[in-house]
Amino acid sequence: MTVKLFLASLFSVLLSIYPCQGDLYESASNLPTSHYDFVVIGGGTAGNVVANRLTENPNFSVLLVEAGPSDSGVFNSTVPLLNAFVQANNTFFSWNYTTTPQAGLNGRSIPYPRGHILGGCSSINNMFYTRGSSEDYDRYANITGDRGWSWNSLQPYIRKNERWTPPADNHNTTGEFNPAVHSSTGINAVSLVGFPQAINSRVIKTTEELNEEFTFNLDMNSGTPLGVGFLQTTIGGGTRSSSATSYLGPEFIRRRNLHVLVNARVTQIISTHSGKDSLAFNTVEFSQGANASRFRVKASKEVILSAGPVNTPSILMHSGIGDSEELAAVGVEPILHLPSVGKNASDQPLLANAWFVNSTDTIDQISRNISLFDEDFQLWNKTKTGPFVDSGGTSHLAMLRLPSNASIFHQFPDPSAGPKSPHFEMVIANGRAPSSALSIGNLITITTNVVSPAARGKVTLASNDPFAPPSLNPGLMSTDYDMFVMQAAVRTAQRFLSAPAWKGYVTTPVGALANVTTDAALESYIRSSASTTWHIAGTAAMSAQNASYGVVNPDLRVKGVSGLRIVDLSVLPFVPSAHPQVAAYIVAERAADMIKAAWV
Ligand SMILES: Cc1cc2nc3c(=O)[nH]c(=O)nc-3n(C[C@H](O)[C@H](O)[C@H](O)COP(=O)(O)OP(=O)(O)OC[C@H]3O[C@@H](n4cnc5c(N)ncnc54)[C@H](O)[C@@H]3O)c2cc1C
Ligand SMILES: *[C@@H]1O[C@H](CO)[C@@H](O)[C@H](O)[C@H]1NC(C)=O
Ligand SMILES: *[C@@H]1O[C@H](CO)[C@@H](O)[C@H](O)[C@H]1NC(C)=O
Ligand SMILES: *[C@@H]1O[C@H](CO)[C@@H](O)[C@H](O)[C@H]1NC(C)=O
Ligand SMILES: *[C@@H]1O[C@H](CO)[C@@H](O)[C@H](O)[C@H]1NC(C)=O
Ligand SMILES: *[C@@H]1O[C@H](CO)[C@@H](O)[C@H](O)[C@H]1NC(C)=O
Ligand SMILES: *[C@@H]1O[C@H](CO)[C@@H](O)[C@H](O)[C@H]1NC(C)=O
Ligand SMILES: *[C@@H]1O[C@H](CO)[C@@H](O)[C@H](O)[C@H]1NC(C)=O
Ligand SMILES: *[C@@H]1O[C@H](CO)[C@@H](O)[C@H](O)[C@H]1NC(C)=O
Ligand SMILES: *[C@@H]1O[C@H](CO)[C@@H](O)[C@H](O)[C@H]1NC(C)=O
Ligand SMILES: *[C@@H]1O[C@H](CO)[C@@H](O)[C@H](O)[C@H]1NC(C)=O
Ligand SMILES: *[C@@H]1O[C@H](CO)[C@@H](O)[C@H](O)[C@H]1NC(C)=O
Ligand SMILES: *[C@@H]1O[C@H](CO)[C@@H](O)[C@H](O)[C@H]1NC(C)=O
Repeated sequence: MTVKLFLASLFSVLLSIYPCQGDLYESASNLPTSHYDFVVIGGGTAGNVVANRLTENPNFSVLLVEAGPSDSGVFNSTVPLLNAFVQANNTFFSWNYTTTPQAGLNGRSIPYPRGHILGGCSSINNMFYTRGSSEDYDRYANITGDRGWSWNSLQPYIRKNERWTPPADNHNTTGEFNPAVHSSTGINAVSLVGFPQAINSRVIKTTEELNEEFTFNLDMNSGTPLGVGFLQTTIGGGTRSSSATSYLGPEFIRRRNLHVLVNARVTQIISTHSGKDSLAFNTVEFSQGANASRFRVKASKEVILSAGPVNTPSILMHSGIGDSEELAAVGVEPILHLPSVGKNASDQPLLANAWFVNSTDTIDQISRNISLFDEDFQLWNKTKTGPFVDSGGTSHLAMLRLPSNASIFHQFPDPSAGPKSPHFEMVIANGRAPSSALSIGNLITITTNVVSPAARGKVTLASNDPFAPPSLNPGLMSTDYDMFVMQAAVRTAQRFLSAPAWKGYVTTPVGALANVTTDAALESYIRSSASTTWHIAGTAAMSAQNASYGVVNPDLRVKGVSGLRIVDLSVLPFVPSAHPQVAAYIVAERAADMIKAAWV
């Protein structure tokens, strides 16, 4: 044995008995070092993917810094039907944001939860698994001039992410999905819903009775999502599969070259001048709990910013990267003028439409009857079956378009990515999830969402205090186009329920929807009742290498600086026409490959 080899093996023996190597750290004082190859900011949906993939290479050391606590043992996150409890306004696991008063919503401010927990929003979201349309990704490729962002090029990353699993009830899934477009070799569990809802056969009947408008789509994740199909979710074995439970699962978090620090809030990224006039952002500053001291860690290769579409632009701006004038106005010293930071935010408005039904077989029953809640919860706890295995009573989605001759297209260009992409969505639920404090009866809910909005909003700083919430304006319902689509969506939901399949089942609309007889009443109902899906994207958008706007280049490096990349939903210049967590996973999978390739 050569001396070098002997030393290497002695070193690895020492590493294996070193108590703190590779694991979860609650306190920065216990970190064995403050120098890493990579520092990832944000242990959320995308950040955990990057931390996992980079540490596949044993030569890379990675520190992952997360503001929130560990997700382990957090029941309301693990049990799918309890997800609403971690989403409500001001929960222990949220950043507790609220939007600015939304002009399109009669000046209302809307609570805007963001996961403040390992796994980020993937630990608190509704677990819907929707990839979007092939055109969504082809548009990213067109905008950036990088074919690597096209739907076809991204297929390997979709497959690295997805681990298709049987539903919790092990029912025969033939006819509910297309196995050819799924992967069973990825990391994040995906399954069809695992508890049958009583309305399922009526939904399928509607696709037969009103076949032309509501065409059945065997698999909405094939790249062509239009139509009505079975919901797929990031749930495996009846429990939530988040980026924390999957990408930071026990076999990964134990890696010696990965340190995960929780309860650590990044306040800024600090630059040094490297070489001639080149700014290198390579030092990360954070604080922990009530301790006023700030800690610093250094990345010798790259800092990866994955704090999500609200906090990523905030951290950039607190670090002096943004519109110089706007930064100076709130007392932040501008370092790099990049006026697109925080701008062009793209979010999808939501409206929950409900009707009373002539049945007691809806999930409302669970919140109406405490003994039933207990019984069903115990069933989940013992066997991981029953109604608690799913998210909110939904088995089906519809992704739909306005007619191509709709009058609104005389005034507005079509903001969707193309003719195979939806303008709006209907989420069909057998009742209302148990968090709804007030249970008013047995319902059917059809939530209508504008998935390809024209409106744009922004995230700006309200103060130079890194602990103050940013000013968050998602621009909900702020264009006539979005209003037109939402009106069409509500009318479409009404037509859906007018199919013979629902005769004698649906009785009367709930609340203000009952008053909707004219277009003006419909608009007023929307402005007073709509909210958001919480799908914000685009606040640190990628653009072509030589574009006059944008925040990152197609390789996700921040324009004009070195050592800093952004990897989360902020980089997508348009929100995909879907629930966007898969897009965050896909961006992160490709980004990890690009980073690895840059440091071989
Ligand atoms: C209530 C809700 C329901 C949703 N439902 C669905 C759904 O059903 N399906 C779907 O596809 N999408 C859904 N979404 C959207 C989807 O979950 C998000 O778009 C996506 O997960 C965002 O991923 P991300 O990596 O960009 O950010 P995040 O997952 O938010 O990750 C950001 C991470 O960075 C951390 N962080 C932020 N600032 C700092 C800091 N200063 N220091 C250290 N760490 C920091 C955060 O705590 C967080 O862990 C939902 C979102 C919400 C809020
Ligand atoms: C790690 O570094 C060693 C020594 O430089 C090299 O031989 C090896 O290929 C590297 N491993 C990877 C996965 O890059
Ligand atoms: C889940 O959330 C509910 C509502 O906020 C709360 O009462 C309950 O204690 C939480 N359960 C756990 C185990 O944290
Ligand atoms: C959000 O509010 C809850 C309830 O007040 C609190 O426990 C939690 O710490 C808050 N989150 C943050 C990030 O401050
Ligand atoms: C959210 O909670 C905060 C603090 O409890 C409250 O001030 C705010 O009004 C709530 N927002 C909404 C829209 O309910
Ligand atoms: C991308 O660009 C090509 C070539 O200009 C065009 O044919 C195609 O329609 C574009 N696709 C999308 C989704 O923008
Ligand atoms: C599942 O259902 C399909 C069609 O309904 C049937 O052909 C197939 O044999 C069933 N599979 C099993 C394992 O029962
Ligand atoms: C705060 O952090 C510093 C630096 O690690 C440490 O020396 C100090 O003891 C901490 N103070 C408290 C109150 O925890
Ligand atoms: C917003 O995006 C559009 C392209 O969709 C671009 O032309 C514009 O410059 C962007 N605005 C900012 C401030 O980045
Ligand atoms: C509540 O649920 C329990 C358990 O399923 C059931 O025995 C009881 O009859 C229900 N009560 C009502 C009022 O429906
Ligand atoms: C769930 O089951 C475990 C035993 O498997 C038990 O320890 C725990 O108390 C149960 N949880 C609840 C909330 O009943
Ligand atoms: C409710 O359903 C029952 C049969 O299940 C039917 O006899 C009754 O007429 C229905 N009520 C209404 C208001 O449609
Ligand atoms: C329906 O409209 C009437 C008359 O404008 C109004 O009094 C009532 O409050 C409205 N109901 C709801 C639920 O908005």
